[in-house]
Amino acid sequence: MREPPTPLDAWLSAGEHALRTLAGASVAARPSPAAELPKPALADAERRLSGALMRVNHVGEVCAQALYRAQSLVTSDAALRERFIEAAREETDHLAWTKQRLDELGDRPSLLNPLWYACAFGIGLVAGRFSDRTSLGFVVETERQVEQHLDGHLQRLPMNDGASRAIVERMKDDEARHAMQATQAGAAELGAPVRLAMRIAARVMTGVAHWV
Ligand SMILES: [Fe+2]
Ligand SMILES: [Fe+2]
Repeated sequence: MREPPTPLDAWLSAGEHALRTLAGASVAARPSPAAELPKPALADAERRLSGALMRVNHVGEVCAQALYRAQSLVTSDAALRERFIEAAREETDHLAWTKQRLDELGDRPSLLNPLWYACAFGIGLVAGRFSDRTSLGFVVETERQVEQHLDGHLQRLPMNDGASRAIVERMKDDEARHAMQATQAGAAELGAPVRLAMRIAARVMTGVAHWV
């Protein structure tokens, strides 16, 4: 385990990480599940739909980076801090894969990514202030909701777009594992009002990111 960073170091590192995330400079550690797949030309309507759905998924991953980094800043438990940073690192693959697919589709990330990042970062700071178990509970609920949301995208993504579908399938498996790992780490179950608020916030974010 590395030495705990000073608060200044931790915040500087968080700032640098935010800029890297928003600049689209994140590099995946694992190859994209779509790397070896054929990428047939899509009809215009299919390409636009895939682009919109992958933009929403990319926003979700921008938010995952912000949440985990914020949560790592507020926990006083060194092992948990390491776990959040490691989780953010693994989510980097999703971020890079969805960005790459957006490029291939000739589409773009959300113009509001700095706003989404800031909101998710704020939520992560608040969640982490309650307790470590609540913070982990927040991870479990986020990952569960993302998993369900990705399942919905698998119903909607064009059948022709095997590349986007392969990325979403792998992300869905990863998110389910993240939820399980956070549960095993001692997450508290969040109350129904918090879960509902999270669903509403996610609905607003995904609704807007579909278009902007
Ligand atoms: Fe993810
Ligand atoms: Fe995840």
